[in-house]
Amino acid sequence: MNYYWVMNLPSSIKGKNVLITGGLGFIGSNLTHKCLELGAKVTIYDCLDPRSGGNMNNLGNIKSDIITILNDIRNFEGISSAILNKDILFNCAAYTSHPGAMKEPLIDIDVNCKGVINVLEAARRFNPEIKIVHVGTSTQIGKMQFDFVDEKHPEFPLDLYSANKSVSEKYVLIYGSAYKMDTTVIRLGNNYGPRSNIKNPDFGFVNYFIGLALQNKEITIFGNGNQFRNFSYVDDSILALIEAAQNEHANGKVFFAVANEQTTVAEIGEQIVKNIGGKLKFVPWPKERKVIEIGDAVISNEKIKKVLNWEPKTGLEEGLLKTKIYFSDKKKYYLD
Ligand SMILES: NC(=O)c1ccc[n+]([C@@H]2O[C@H](COP(=O)([O-])OP(=O)(O)OC[C@H]3O[C@@H](n4cnc5c(N)ncnc54)[C@H](O)[C@@H]3O)[C@@H](O)[C@H]2O)c1
Repeated sequence: MNYYWVMNLPSSIKGKNVLITGGLGFIGSNLTHKCLELGAKVTIYDCLDPRSGGNMNNLGNIKSDIITILNDIRNFEGISSAILNKDILFNCAAYTSHPGAMKEPLIDIDVNCKGVINVLEAARRFNPEIKIVHVGTSTQIGKMQFDFVDEKHPEFPLDLYSANKSVSEKYVLIYGSAYKMDTTVIRLGNNYGPRSNIKNPDFGFVNYFIGLALQNKEITIFGNGNQFRNFSYVDDSILALIEAAQNEHANGKVFFAVANEQTTVAEIGEQIVKNIGGKLKFVPWPKERKVIEIGDAVISNEKIKKVLNWEPKTGLEEGLLKTKIYFSDKKKYYLD
């Protein structure tokens, strides 16, 4: 397919009514801040699940500038009423722990599959014109079968969270094709940055490393850390979500929004130590982690660059320093 014929459209989310499920979490709260900055009217819908990265402190000083609905995407009446009169829905609510999903498989399927169907059904019945941008994950592909991985790479996920994310992404696309709704999926890689869960190793490991570095503690890397990953600074990722929302050529499509370069886990550990603090320690893989480890993830961002004219802008050192600055006076809200 030739993607060159489409570029950014001169539309904007300014003045739009935006609903962000999971808006108290890492990705959703950064998105909330950016949407407000761009002049959108934002409503957050989030149940503040204690097993997630949801944190009221992520709102900082914008609490009174937005509407926050504390409710669950599994509550059909709740999400149906929240979706009314909205122009754009960013679906960032999810049960986001890979090991958590292995320990609590029924909760994961409940939130990440049934919850997504609930959101889609609410949109179909009560606001079918709404633009839906859903967040997928690069781990849906499982072990890499060729590089660079693109959107046509087969999906054989290795953990239940990734499997359920893979299925729910298909739901989003089915509602687009079967009901002619405007839906897009943006798959993200490993994100780091402000407002992340830096306390719990069961979420993104890079943010956990940053939390340890901020406390000048030892950072444990499993194995030799030689596996390549796509690490993205969160601001770049949320701009991909916003671009997908305002560009009609995103409809019906899946995109990887990942960094230009791959970095090994050991390298990111070294960069964190250099720019933030702590020290590295290499230990053997715990068995329960090894079985769900995907190995290298070398992913192409060519499609999103061509269709949406999106480009990651933040280098690793710059992103780590911005993250350090954000947390410097807020550690107590994230680590206590
Ligand atoms: N952070 C990453 O590196 C990354 C990478 C790939 C994909 N993603 C995807 O991005 C999205 C957001 O992830 P995140 O990192 O911000 O996670 P997070 O855990 O920080 O945030 C998830 C938010 O969803 C809320 N939530 C959970 N269950 C809910 C429910 N049933 N109803 C309403 N709200 C609920 C939580 O309270 C939390 O605020 C997810 O779909 C995730 O799969 C994230």
